[in-house]
Amino acid sequence: MIREMIKMIYPKKPLFPPSWRMMICIPSSITEVEKRAVRDSAEQAGAKEVYLIHEPMAAALGIGIDVEEPVGNMIIDIGGGTTGITVIALAGIVCDQSIRIAGDEFTADIMEALRRYHSLLIGERTAEQIKIQIGAALKDLDNPPDDIPVNGRDLVTGIPKQIMVSYQEIAEALDKSIFKIEEAILKALETTPPELAGDIYRRGLYLTGGGALLRGLDKRLSQKIKLPVHIADDPLKSVVRGTGIALKNYDRYPFVMR
Ligand SMILES: Nc1ncnc2c1ncn2[C@@H]1O[C@H](COP(=O)(O)OP(=O)(O)OP(=O)(O)O)[C@@H](O)[C@H]1O
Ligand SMILES: [Mg+2]
Repeated sequence: MIREMIKMIYPKKPLFPPSWRMMICIPSSITEVEKRAVRDSAEQAGAKEVYLIHEPMAAALGIGIDVEEPVGNMIIDIGGGTTGITVIALAGIVCDQSIRIAGDEFTADIMEALRRYHSLLIGERTAEQIKIQIGAALKDLDNPPDDIPVNGRDLVTGIPKQIMVSYQEIAEALDKSIFKIEEAILKALETTPPELAGDIYRRGLYLTGGGALLRGLDKRLSQKIKLPVHIADDPLKSVVRGTGIALKNYDRYPFVMR
């Protein structure tokens, strides 16, 4: 996979392959053996120097947080499989938790809701499209999206059918999963050292990952947790942007693993 990615940057094979310096972003729960495997793969793909960075740290850099400050920042990364809740201070990860509720679970919730309330069977791709088009965390949005038509198979008759779906219905379907994320954030705040928790209460928390794009999620979280919630500029790319920043400054940041 790494080789193919390099090919995307240099479609023509250079006569003398350059010596790559690679920065690879890894989940913070990774084991030493897995780290070794990541390094080996990179080296086999032609890397001369391999550096690793933990994903939440990369996300923080990508969001534009000054990670070296002696101040606590909380980053919530709602990805596909997992939601990571991480506190960062003084260029280190202070606490890090993750739950297996994120985008894929939202998609499954939508499939389940349409099956249960409309007897409509839809595929995962359709459900993800619905989530992206009208997915919401609140039932009273300021700028509500229009209802959309959804095609699927009627579970009773077995023939194709189309229904109109509103964002409120999707918000209802996602409620349970978002609630679990809220609970996890509250629990993480409880276990954060008091001084850092104070910083977080003052500055708020940062949302990133594809799930951060759910309409109204920032508002819902700030109502529930009672602190400001900021959404990263381009949440799907915070991690990769941060990894790029770390690559440019690979010798400067103490958290870059050699
Ligand atoms: N506009 C959107 N609204 C809601 N969800 C979205 C939107 N765009 C993408 N997603 C969802 O975001 C998820 C992907 O996010 P992201 O790229 O951050 O995950 P990942 O980093 O690949 O996963 P993980 O962090 O769990 O390894 C998918 O579930 C996708 O359906
Ligand atoms: Mg991710």
